[in-house]
This record gives sequence, structure tokens and C-alpha cells, in this order.
Amino acid sequence: MTVTPLTAHPCEALSGQVTLPGDKSISHRALMLSAVAVGPSQISGLLEGEDVLCTANALRGLGAEIQRGEDGIWRVWGRGVGGLAEPEDVLDMGNSGTAARLLLGLLASHDLTAVMTGDASLRSRPMARVIRPLSDTGAQFLSRARDRLPLAVNGTAEPMPLRYRLPVASAQVKSAILLAGLSTPGVTEVIEPSPSRDHSEIMLAHFGAQIDCAVIDPGESQADEALKGVGPTARRIRLIGQPELTGRDLQVPADPSSAAFPMVAALTRPGSDVLLPAVGINPLRCGLIATLQEMGGDISLENQRDFAGEPVADLRVKGSRLQGIEVPAERVPAMIDEFPVLAVAAAAASGTTVMRGLAELRVKESDRLAVMARGLAACGVEVEEGQDSLTVTGAGNQTAGGRPRGGGQVQTHLDHRIAMSFLVLGSIADQAVTVDDGAPIETSFPGFGDLMNRLGARIEPAPDPAPGTSGPAETAA
Ligand code: S3P
Repeated sequence: MTVTPLTAHPCEALSGQVTLPGDKSISHRALMLSAVAVGPSQISGLLEGEDVLCTANALRGLGAEIQRGEDGIWRVWGRGVGGLAEPEDVLDMGNSGTAARLLLGLLASHDLTAVMTGDASLRSRPMARVIRPLSDTGAQFLSRARDRLPLAVNGTAEPMPLRYRLPVASAQVKSAILLAGLSTPGVTEVIEPSPSRDHSEIMLAHFGAQIDCAVIDPGESQADEALKGVGPTARRIRLIGQPELTGRDLQVPADPSSAAFPMVAALTRPGSDVLLPAVGINPLRCGLIATLQEMGGDISLENQRDFAGEPVADLRVKGSRLQGIEVPAERVPAMIDEFPVLAVAAAAASGTTVMRGLAELRVKESDRLAVMARGLAACGVEVEEGQDSLTVTGAGNQTAGGRPRGGGQVQTHLDHRIAMSFLVLGSIADQAVTVDDGAPIETSFPGFGDLMNRLGARIEPAPDPAPGTSGPAETAA
């Protein structure tokens, strides 16, 4: 991948309507479930970012037939539950933790051996969280030290059904267990301490699996050792194994995690008015919208409807005066990927925004807590990094128009959301912000710069570094 430094120059109000790329989480799942269904599936609105293209390639390597039509519709001819074939080559999952972890679940209960790798960011991310529970199916894993990729999975022909209580709310781990349960006889059960995104559950039902999800009854949690001490929002998900999944047609909603970037830019530029059609508003993904509304953001959800069980709406976002708040910790799973861009909104708000319960941010595509804190500080934003918290004091009351200072050069550490967050910061700041590498944005949001510029942003390739310098390093203005 060519390193692509990008600069965002300060812009005025944003306006217009833009179609955002498809939801990344749903796109991975749509390809994976189509690949183990019987008969053809047609997927429209699939995210064509690098992460999802890696999933498509890996599934081709496992024997599924996957084609993209000239009409932009993806057609998949699946191999049926348990029907994936041993791949001839290494599966390269690129930058995607979701693709790697979900696919390990699917492969654990297949009688095959596969080797999986990824880019430098993915090779540094922990896999024990799926390897450990999946080993109880009877699958075997051979990994590098500290459970990192590359690793080999030796799936089992006779998988045992799992009953697993997640130590932390993680949709990736939950989904890996459920996918392993597909080609396993009996009932697979996952207990989650608090609800995480339920795209796998919704889509499994759409493809014809028998799956149910219920809040755990306090009486039951007394009697059952595995449920002892669960909180009031804990849920259990039960999947009946070896279903016959049938190929389906589905439309992928626009990604709320991608919508977050134009949304924050529009909210923080007075006079903005932006319309984002058909964005997923699954309640377990909507924490950022709720938080920005509590901060005073004018976001309305128009024309609410449903795409294959997933709620969607057109989002209208208008420039607003934001006020810092304390984000309720129980909301974290519903906005886990949105904290970098929320920190940017907080930098333009009045007062202080406190974000707690963010330990998981340290093991995302980068250590997002540390990387955000460093980048914000380089852009003149008052920020405090705690072990699992971030506190940002905004420029709202301090500068004309509430613009944070900006002017920093930020290192993105192969993290698409860090790159986009700081390009939003440069757009709403007083001085331009440069990120050392915008190439990872292609993993989730192809065409990000053009789309933002159509709304009125000014994101461009960074000017060449002066001769004899090595280009952007993390520096303040
Ligand atoms: C995802 C789940 C989340 C999220 C990731 C996508 C998914 O990860 O951060 O970007 O599609 O299941 P965790 O499950 O690790 O919280």
C-alpha cells in the first residue's frame, strides 16, 4: 500500500446529500453467511472497502463462488453449512479484526486446515479471545507467541457445541462462537454481559437459522453457575446447530460508523445542513447519535424503514452548539468505534467531555486512546488520557466560532478511523491538520476525501515535505 499523507484545510458550513458506503460489519456477515447458504444470494450496497474485499477473497479461497456484477450487485453461490473447502493458500485478512475473528469461528467447525495472516496492525492484535473458546469445540490452533497472526487453524470434523459466557461485550467474539455453532450439532449458547451489536443474530435469522435472544431472568441466574453475578442487561443467545441456510437477497445499510465523520463535521460547523440517506440505526450501533443529541446536536432520523431486519433512516444533520457531557459507560458497546470522532466533536464543544470504560480501544486497529490523546495534544486540544478513559475540553467557549486550534501533524498507525477523525478535526479547526497516511481509509470508507469535499470540506494530498525532511511526524503547530 502506498503511503498517502493527506491534509484537511479549515472549511466553512457543509451542505448537501451524499450516499455513504455500506456497513462494514454487515458486509462481512453477508458474504460469510451467503458462502455457507444453499443457493444464490444477491447483496446490494456491499461495502467495497479493502477489509470486505479480503473477506470475499478468503471465502473464494474456501470454495465459495463470488462475483461482482456490473450493476454493483454481489452474487454468491454458497457451499451449504459445513461445506467450505480447505484453502490452497494463506488467507490474508488485511487490516480486519472482524473478518479474521469471525472466519476463525466459521473454520473451527470445518474439517480443514487453514493458515491466516494480515497486515502489521492485524498481526499485532490479540486472537486469544476467540482461540480460547473455539478450542473447546475440538479445533486446534497454532499461533505465534501471544496468540497473534499468522496462525493455523485445524478445524474439527466433530465439533462440540459451546456454551460460553463472554468476559467482555464483544460482537466479534459472540459472532465467532455463533458461526462455529452453525456446523455443530446441538445448541450453541453465548451469554453476553451487556448487549453488543446483533447483526449476526439478525442475519442468521434472515438466512433461516433458528436463533433466539433473551435478557437473562434474575431467578435463572441464581440457579445456574454459568450465569452467576450477571448484570441486569446480560443476554443469552441460542442457536440451533446444522440449520439449512438458504441464499437470500439483501441490501446493506450505509455504515453508521462512516456516517459519524460527516455527521461530526456538519454538527460542528455553524450553518451546515447535510442529508445522509439509508444509514443503519440498529439501536446497538446508535450510541454516537444519542451522545451527540445529548450534547445538543441537531440530528433527525427521517423516513425510518427496514433492510432485512436492520432498521435504517435518512439522517439530517444541522450545525449546532455542542456542550460537553459525561458519556454513560453502559453506552460504550453501542459506539465502540466512534470514540475517536466523538473526541473531535468534544474538541469543538463547550466544556468538558468525559469518556470512560474505553479499555477495549487499546486493542483496536491501533491503541486508539494513546493515539487520539497524542494527536489531539499536537492539535492544541486540552486532553487527558487515563488507563481506560479520555477527557477532552473543547474550544467552544474559548475561540471565535468554537474552532479548535488544529495545525498538528498526526501519525495514524495504520488506523483508518484515526486518519478520518483527524481529517475532520482539520476541517473544523483554525489551522490545517495533516495525517501521515490516509491509505488505510480505503479499508472502510473508499472515496472518503471526495465525499467530504462534495459537502464542502477541503481534504487534499499533503504538500511534499521539504527536501531533506522525512515528512509528517507527530508535531504540534
Ligand atoms: C465489530 C465489533 C466491534 C467493532 C468492530 C466491528 C463487528 O469489535 O469494534 O469494528 O463487526 O462485530 P469488538 O467485538 O471487538 O468490540
